[in-house]
Amino acid sequence: MMRIDIITVLPELIEGFLFHSIPKRAQDKGLVEIQLHNLRDYATNKYRQVDDYPFGGGAGMVLMIEPIARCIEKLQSERSYDEIIYLTPDGKPFKQADANELSGKQNLILLCGHYKGIDERVREHFVTREISIGDYVLSGGELAAAVVADAVIRLIPGVLSDETSALTDSFQDNLLAPPVYTRPADFRGWKVPDVLLSGNHKAIEEWRYEMSLKRTQERRPDLLSSNDSK
Ligand code: ADE
Repeated sequence: MMRIDIITVLPELIEGFLFHSIPKRAQDKGLVEIQLHNLRDYATNKYRQVDDYPFGGGAGMVLMIEPIARCIEKLQSERSYDEIIYLTPDGKPFKQADANELSGKQNLILLCGHYKGIDERVREHFVTREISIGDYVLSGGELAAAVVADAVIRLIPGVLSDETSALTDSFQDNLLAPPVYTRPADFRGWKVPDVLLSGNHKAIEEWRYEMSLKRTQERRPDLLSSNDSK
């Protein structure tokens, strides 16, 4: 079973995402275990302090190394980790291929930053991978950790049924997914494409592939021309 440990100052922010829907089903099926760790529980002083002013001055607070080191080392005393991932806007842009790769790992730690960031020594001495979920700055790493965990969990074998298979997702072949429709076949004269009602599976597959290609050409030509988006 895969295990994901998430270190954060705001565990309640993550609960709403990872204890519902598909991630919840994956946990109920015993395919993944998610544990949240409140960084304040690892603070070293009685004020449960986890952040402090930056050396050299400047705006914003910085997460201290001691509580993070204590939390990580306690977890490492219980099992070994394949990756200790820090969520940060200056990390490597997260792609479906990264989700695919991480879904094959056993034990992961996701470390959420806050305020102006974390003491650089955490990144040098503990973190093995740094991930950004996009070129914008969030208030903290919690949303980013939830995004990464969700994208990874749904790819663990057995989490999705055949009908919801990840094989037909956008990005899976570096293509965007084709359009989908459901009943009614005619709403105010807005009709579902005939081919989808034809029962001709080969024609349907071809149509879907054509639409995927067209959509990708129109919206994301970068996916077709480069390998770095993989
Ligand atoms: N923390 C703040 N912004 C972030 C981003 N864009 N990606 C990952 N972690 C973040």
